[in-house]
Amino acid sequence: MMQKVMEIALKRSILIPSNELYSPVGGFYDYGPVGKALKRKIEDCWRDLFLRREGNFEIETVYILPEAVLKASGHLSCFGDPVVGCSKCGKKFRADHLLEEKANFTCGGMKPEQLTKEMKEKKIVCPECGGPLGDVGWFNLMFKTNIGPMEGTTGYIRPETAQGIFLDFQRVFRSHGSKLPMGIAQIGKSFRNEISPRQGLVRLREFSQMELEYFFNPSSPTHPRFKGVEDEKFRVYTREEQKKGSEKCIELTAKEAVERKLVPNEIMAYFMAREMQFYMKLRIPYDALRFRHMLPEETPHYSGGNVDLEVKTSVGWVEVIGNAYRTDYDLKSHSQSSGKDLSVLLEDGSRVIPHVVEPSFGVDRTIMCMLEYCYREGGGAERRDWEWFDFPAFISPFEVAVLPLMKKDGLSERASEVANSLREKGFDVIYDETGSIGKRYARADEIGVPYCLTVDYDTLKDGTVTIRFRNDGKQSREDSKTLPEKLHSLLEGNVVCLP
Ligand code: GAP
Repeated sequence: MMQKVMEIALKRSILIPSNELYSPVGGFYDYGPVGKALKRKIEDCWRDLFLRREGNFEIETVYILPEAVLKASGHLSCFGDPVVGCSKCGKKFRADHLLEEKANFTCGGMKPEQLTKEMKEKKIVCPECGGPLGDVGWFNLMFKTNIGPMEGTTGYIRPETAQGIFLDFQRVFRSHGSKLPMGIAQIGKSFRNEISPRQGLVRLREFSQMELEYFFNPSSPTHPRFKGVEDEKFRVYTREEQKKGSEKCIELTAKEAVERKLVPNEIMAYFMAREMQFYMKLRIPYDALRFRHMLPEETPHYSGGNVDLEVKTSVGWVEVIGNAYRTDYDLKSHSQSSGKDLSVLLEDGSRVIPHVVEPSFGVDRTIMCMLEYCYREGGGAERRDWEWFDFPAFISPFEVAVLPLMKKDGLSERASEVANSLREKGFDVIYDETGSIGKRYARADEIGVPYCLTVDYDTLKDGTVTIRFRNDGKQSREDSKTLPEKLHSLLEGNVVCLP
């Protein structure tokens, strides 16, 4: 499935392999017009759910950070993966992935020495040439650079968007109400020099994150809107089931997850319920979502508890969100390293270093999962023989395709007028007059356009156009004067078949 989805994504330039004209380098993808529009809409949907409706703030911080920042955050010493090289062909591999794939051995959190021992015992050889593998080493995943022309001013390209938020926290806090809790978010690129990038968008070296840092007073780890989601259910893959090697999940409400201490606090459970709503809005089914309670040995250096949201895909369960209780780790470390007091003044006159719960979403992985779950073959009134994407209407990269039946007799001109007037009204419109009408329907379906508008000879007589609905291929006629209202209500109701 992943391969099919990648094929159609490449065919329609939803994705474009980066630097294609030169030797390909793994772990980088460009987004073409359709992919970029889809990405923007997913990000806007996230902004709406996690920022606008919640009163949280969005900021934008720089990509390049001086070494002192990443030393304080712990990334310089802790942010790496175990690597092993082949003594014959020289290729490098992730040691833990090799053990998992070749020996079905789970080695979360193991030190390089233990991994070397396991690799030797299990007689793991180079997967490329069969040559012998050396000892396992540690590889820091950050891209290093020099800031300015002087040697010695070392910088790193950020491995997460979060650090910029911690650095700017106090200024934002002071200028925006000085009151806890406060959520500050960032959507942007992060960079990790992954040892073995793979599976399309799953493991990239340059990728986008949507991260929210929710700062709160540790003496009241509650969320003001928790009541509204406390009965929402989700599936949890507990540590016990993981240890047993079973795939069984338990179903809990947000409230039960807190009561059973499966999550460190109510705030994390609140976000978990919202995350379910977000992914289900994007067409990922309930049963394909599970929260995995991270094992203690896998939990990142900054975390007081992690629960990942995973999506079931054709290449296995893929982590799309890391939920971390970062405690006061980051603010405290930056405070100690910079010598600046990052505590805040509370209403009762006391001071506290806020604690943080962080939901960190991967945008590219979310797109990959959406492409898989929205992929369809055939069906519809025309008994189509092409592949298409069943994107929710509100998130479709293009909402409307305007197609003149023929290029002649003034139909193209009239269709262009329709397309331009819809663009003026804020719709994302694609105009296509090349090839047969059937081919154009197929092209529109392949990029998930929910509505095709055909301008024909009747349009010239009475101003009506045909609306073809993507999912059943059925059609109705609509007066072009009332089209904008009609399209708005179809999009709002996510109507993708003839009503
Ligand atoms: N600030 C916390 C943080 O970055 P993470 O679990 O390392 O946590 C969060 O990353 C999310 O970012 C992941 O759940 C995943 O969706 C995405 N992500 C991480 N590494 C990635 C990579 N190499 N390629 C694509 N997405 C990645």
